[in-house]
Amino acid sequence: MAEVIWGLATSHVPSIGAAMDNHKTGDPYWKPLFDGYAPAREWMAEHTPDVAVIVYNDHANAVDLDLVPTFAIGTAPHYGVADEGWGRRPVPPVVGAPELSAHLVRELVDDEFDIATFHELDVDHGLTVPLSVYCPEPGDAWPCAVVPVLVNVIQHPQPTASRCYRLGEAIGRAIRSYPGDLKVAVFGTGGMSHQLAGGRAGLINAEFDRMFLTAIEHEPEKLATLTREDYIREAGTEGIELIMWLVMRGALNPEITRIHETYHVPASNTAAALALFENGGQA
Ligand code: DHB
Ligand code: FE
Repeated sequence: MAEVIWGLATSHVPSIGAAMDNHKTGDPYWKPLFDGYAPAREWMAEHTPDVAVIVYNDHANAVDLDLVPTFAIGTAPHYGVADEGWGRRPVPPVVGAPELSAHLVRELVDDEFDIATFHELDVDHGLTVPLSVYCPEPGDAWPCAVVPVLVNVIQHPQPTASRCYRLGEAIGRAIRSYPGDLKVAVFGTGGMSHQLAGGRAGLINAEFDRMFLTAIEHEPEKLATLTREDYIREAGTEGIELIMWLVMRGALNPEITRIHETYHVPASNTAAALALFENGGQA
């Protein structure tokens, strides 16, 4: 039986990855952010999963805007690191877990989530930065295999927060029904408030972010009732990435323990946060 052992919510700002790649994490601009990660990183290093199911969005780097699946799962044995215009990040290749991917796709389709599949996929900062937040010094290989779960958060109409939460619940059921003996971590990535373009570029809404950080633990249903317009109005056009945190939360049990949390403004144009939860109780 596979089990979900922990869930990590984290921003995926590209320059967080660049700060690590270019050895700038001790600079005055970056040090407070990375200091905030330290306790979570220590705990995760002692609780290594076999597989990370990483809920993320591609930013039109590897997935063309002509064909944007609402929900998709990578099914490949390995994933390339996308070149987003300044070369590929110097991080290890991402090793897949094709048997778990195939199981999740089948179970989710049977559960009435019509999932698209990627048999070939390069993963962009949406996935590699959260991996670096989890594991800053991977050496030649990441500590675990990865199942990418893609959510459309960039092209209207994005899935509702409620649908994302239900998808997470279905992913939790599917993981638990996997016959292999696997320890699984689930990542919910992106957010918190940010808007990169337009008249409100630079928007940060700390009050909304703090509400969301608190409610994700015990009141995810409340966050699931918010509309996409609510997310965009309160958290910005890119702040709607927060619906991916709800997929992660849905995959965990109702009872969870908050191991660590940190909130830092700004990282680039974003309110950057991390929240780490140990799974507990009964599904
Ligand atoms: C930034 C944040 C993002 O979520 C992203 O995908 C790209 C850039 C930023 O703040 O720079
Ligand atoms: Fe993003």
